[in-house]
Amino acid sequence: MVASCPNCGTELVYNHEATTWECVKCGNTFERSQVEDTLPDGKHRRRDKDDYPTPAPLAKWAVDRAWELKTPMLSRPHNLFVLEPGCGDRAPFARAAALRGEDPAAVGSNVTSIDIRARGELPSDAEPVEDYAREHGINNLAVHRGVDFLDVKRVVDLVGEAVYIRGFDVIATNPPYNLAEDFIRHALAMLHPTGVAVFLLRLSFMSTQGRIPLFRDRPPAEVHVLHKRPSFVNGKTDNSEYGFFLWTGETLDAVRRSEGRQHARLFWIDNREW
Ligand SMILES: C[S@@+](CC[C@H](N)C(=O)[O-])C[C@H]1O[C@@H](n2cnc3c(N)ncnc32)[C@H](O)[C@@H]1O
Repeated sequence: MVASCPNCGTELVYNHEATTWECVKCGNTFERSQVEDTLPDGKHRRRDKDDYPTPAPLAKWAVDRAWELKTPMLSRPHNLFVLEPGCGDRAPFARAAALRGEDPAAVGSNVTSIDIRARGELPSDAEPVEDYAREHGINNLAVHRGVDFLDVKRVVDLVGEAVYIRGFDVIATNPPYNLAEDFIRHALAMLHPTGVAVFLLRLSFMSTQGRIPLFRDRPPAEVHVLHKRPSFVNGKTDNSEYGFFLWTGETLDAVRRSEGRQHARLFWIDNREW
């Protein structure tokens, strides 16, 4: 790939040994994550496979909210089946869910995370979640790489037919933007009837004509608008507003409808400190 110097715009040279980019003109050295999303004109290209990692506090918020809605639905305590499709290297939602399972007094978790990219294809230098889990003795978290979440047969083979049919209790992610609706539809198809699916999306996601069928047939239960734009890469934000969109499984949807609540409830999250 070609990368240009964020300071002077000169084409950078990649140093394979140091795994850094170097500018022959101004002599600066840059980490991969500092330049690989910068175009020569200073604009940003979308990162490969929409690799925009979610800040950990946001992912934790989403998982906590899903737990809050899901656990009163449990007739007896059991570990929740949790899935983060498109988990990237850090798998922040899966990690937050796995850590909830650490508290023996709480409702635990059995977490699966998958991503289409194989290990080693990851562009960032972040610690892969499987290494984090090993180092911290977390053993309720499985990571599967090289798996296309939209390949239903592959996902069924991976999680097992019984679990796929039963459905996951919590599905949470920040999906690749260009596949967001496909991700949501597949997630809803494999959501437990009292499950909760949480997606971090641009707010403009809800205003597109092509998504009329989705919002008519499966309106989300809640939308939580983020007051502050999240920063996904190098402390920078893009020009979009974001929020968490929360869908519930069919049983919870029916409860909502019986209470006359067809439409999504709107909330705001004060994330200024995150
Ligand atoms: C916006 S990133 C989010 C990563 C992570 N969920 C997070 O919140 O930090 C989207 C991720 O989806 C993965 N992805 C893209 N297409 C996919 C597919 N068809 N199946 C599984 N993962 C996919 C990308 O490799 C990327 O890691």
